Formats: sequence, C-alpha cells, structure tokens
Amino acid sequence: MTADATGDDTAEVIPGRPGDPLRGRHVVLGVTGSIACYKAVEVTSRLVQAGATVDVVLTRGAMEFVTPLAFKAITQRNPYTDMFDPSGPEGEAHVELARRADVMLIAPATAATLSRLATGLAEDFVTLTAIATEAPLLVAPAMDSQMWAHPAVQANVATLRDRGTRFIGPVEGRLASGRVGAGRLVEPERIVDELRVYLGRAGGDLAGRTIVVTAGGTREAIDPVRYISNHSSGKMGYAIAEAARDRGADVVIVSTVGLPVPAGVRVVPVSSASEMQTAVHRECADADVLIAAAAVADYRPASAADQKLKKSAGNAGMAIELVENPHVLGSTPTKSSRGTLVKVGFAAETQNLIENAVAKLNERGARMIVANDVTATDAGFGSDDNRVSILDDRGGRDDLPLMTKYAVGHAILDRVAKLLT
Ligand code: CTP
Repeated sequence: MTADATGDDTAEVIPGRPGDPLRGRHVVLGVTGSIACYKAVEVTSRLVQAGATVDVVLTRGAMEFVTPLAFKAITQRNPYTDMFDPSGPEGEAHVELARRADVMLIAPATAATLSRLATGLAEDFVTLTAIATEAPLLVAPAMDSQMWAHPAVQANVATLRDRGTRFIGPVEGRLASGRVGAGRLVEPERIVDELRVYLGRAGGDLAGRTIVVTAGGTREAIDPVRYISNHSSGKMGYAIAEAARDRGADVVIVSTVGLPVPAGVRVVPVSSASEMQTAVHRECADADVLIAAAAVADYRPASAADQKLKKSAGNAGMAIELVENPHVLGSTPTKSSRGTLVKVGFAAETQNLIENAVAKLNERGARMIVANDVTATDAGFGSDDNRVSILDDRGGRDDLPLMTKYAVGHAILDRVAKLLT
C-alpha cells in the first residue's frame, strides 16, 4: 500500500506486473484430494499476486487436507465446495464458473480425477466444471509413482492429451509414501509459470516468433582455474527472456550464468565469447530476433595455459598477452531462415552514453541499442532495476525512467514487436 497526498495509505494497488499474461485473467483452480493439496494454497497465492482473479473449487477429498477458508482468505472469494448447496454463491454455479474462466487449472489432480475427466464422469464439482467449460484445461497430477505408471492412469493421460488437455508434470522426486519416483506435484512457482507459457503462446503478440537472448559476462580462460570476466549478473538478459516468453515467443538464452531458468525457456550454456558466438550463430539461423544483453569480453588471453600457472621466485609481476575476441552481435548475419533477423544491442557505458551507443548501432547492424550508464548506483549490474535509453536506427530516442528489468524487457519487446509486423 502506498500513501497518497491526502495521507490515505489504503489506496488500491493493482496486483501483478504489467505484461504478465496472468494479470486480469480469470483462473478457475480445481483442487482434488491429495496430500499435495497444501501446495494449491501457494499456487492460489501466486496467481492472486500475479493479478489474476481466482475461483477455487474443492472436492470433498481436497477438504480432508485443506480448508476452504485458506483459499477464501487469499482470494477474497467464496470457494466452491458443494454442487448441491442451494445457498451456494451462484445458482448454476458450475455453468457460471465455466463461462467466466479464461483458463482452468487442476492442481493437484488425483488418479481418480484423471479417470473422471477422461470418461466425462462429472460427479464432483471439479470435473463438473472442467466438463462444462470451453476454457483450456491444464492439469498438474500428484500421486504415487506406481499409480502414475499404471496402464489405466497412462491410458487416461493419453486420452486427455489427445483431447487437448495440457499436463504440467508430474516430476520425479520424493513422494508422500517415502518412495522416490515420478508422481510428485510440480512446485507451485513452476505451475504458475507454465500457465504463463500457455497463455502467452495462446494470445501473446510474439507467439510463433523465436527470440535469442545473450546473458551474462563471458569468461576468458587464463589457465584451468582462472579467467578474465566482468560484473554482469545476467539478470537483464533473463528478464528479457521472461518477458518474451510471457508474450508467447519461443525463447533461447545463450548464457554464461547459472540463474534459475524461466519455465518454457531453453538455455544454451556457454563460457567464452567464442563459444557464445558459435551458439548464437547456430540459434539465430532460424530466429526472428537477437537481443544481445551479454557483456562480452573484448579481449581474451592469446592462449590459455593447460596447467595452472605458478608464481616463479623472484618474478615481481607477469604480463598476459591479449587478443581481440570476435564480436558476437556484429558478426551475426541479419538474414535467417525466417527472413530478416532483428538485432538489438546493449551499450554499457561509463561516459558519453548516447554518442557511444549511436556509434555501436551503426557498426553492429542493429535496429536498436539499449544504452545504460553502468556507473549508476541504483540500477544496472546485479540490480533488479535498470534505467535505459532506447535508440533506434531511424534516429529515435526514448529515455525511460528507472524500472524493473522485466519492465525494461517489455519496453524493448514493444518496439521489437512493431519492427516484426
Ligand atoms: N558485444 C558482442 N561481442 C563483443 C562485444 C560486445 O556481441 N565481442 C555486444 C554486447 O552484447 C552488446 C554490444 O555488443 O550488445 C555492445 O557491447 P559493449 O561492450 O558495450 O561495446 P563494444 O561493441 O564491445 O564496444 P566498446 O567495448 O568499445 O565500448
């Protein structure tokens, strides 16, 4: 809550981040009777924080594990629990719910739920709603590994897949039975991200596009244990990737860092500038866009020693000979199998920000350069925020205020989307 000029600290804050495909969506969450039900509470919380309106439907089995009150407290809406309750929140509750849903998620989904969904046996509130809705259905199963592997369950999964139901997991891991195997509910954060992937691909303005993003500082080996690098955290590249994913693009990050991989995004790990160049050229051959957010070292040691370099007695210093690295952005062809590759570069500067950025735009065959002053203390390296200017090849210039890197990603992609149409 933020205080306004009148001192009112109750001003309503619209939850969620602009650009998040869950923001403003109506999600119906079906919860069925599994020990993993407690995780549905977190799924609900994350959906609400993302700005979705969430209606929760619980089966009797689910209410053995979690209470409707937990969901009511998070969603501020009455959960649906009894399809025969005449005093329930709606008249024909399942029909009304089904009509309002943009998407329906069942998490956790038991083996019995999959069976009822596959055969259309609408005898609980969750399957009843799933059968009544035209909204896409995503299902996150949770059960013991032997149950998941059972031919009857797998036959139901195949039937549902054929019918267009999308499965989120299950994953391998520790199960309530103490066994380790496939059957564990996907973690709530990932389930919510999978919904974003789905919604982005279903309606995002970059659906069907392939975007390659470079991220992190390259590492140029001196010997097997030492390297030359820089302060880049890779966060800017990953935030762009997440924003592009949320708009429906197929996204590849060519990355030097080990940040958590956003759901639906492919990562190609690399270390040096040369490795990055090889990977970028390969990935861009079939891509629409390259966004080069990586901080690529301009030079590398002329040769990396095979063995760890040792200090030699009496030697007060040492010199490392450096040779120039390939320019990843500049050397990537602007033609791909998709037609023209739109190239976007970054310019990390400590002085003459705009002049230097414009020079790079021309040199690298880029349509846009995102310039940031890396001396700023509230933005840039390692931070979640950034303050950038976006310059384009027609002389346009936008100075953006301090914003999250995810929002910067969307600002770049707004302009990329226009160039692609
Ligand atoms: N870049 C690249 N390959 C390099 C160096 C940089 O692809 N060998 C890319 C960066 O990812 C960024 C842009 O080029 O998108 C600008 O990087 P920067 O280091 O700021 O500029 P340089 O072109 O290297 O020029 P200088 O070092 O002289 O500032």
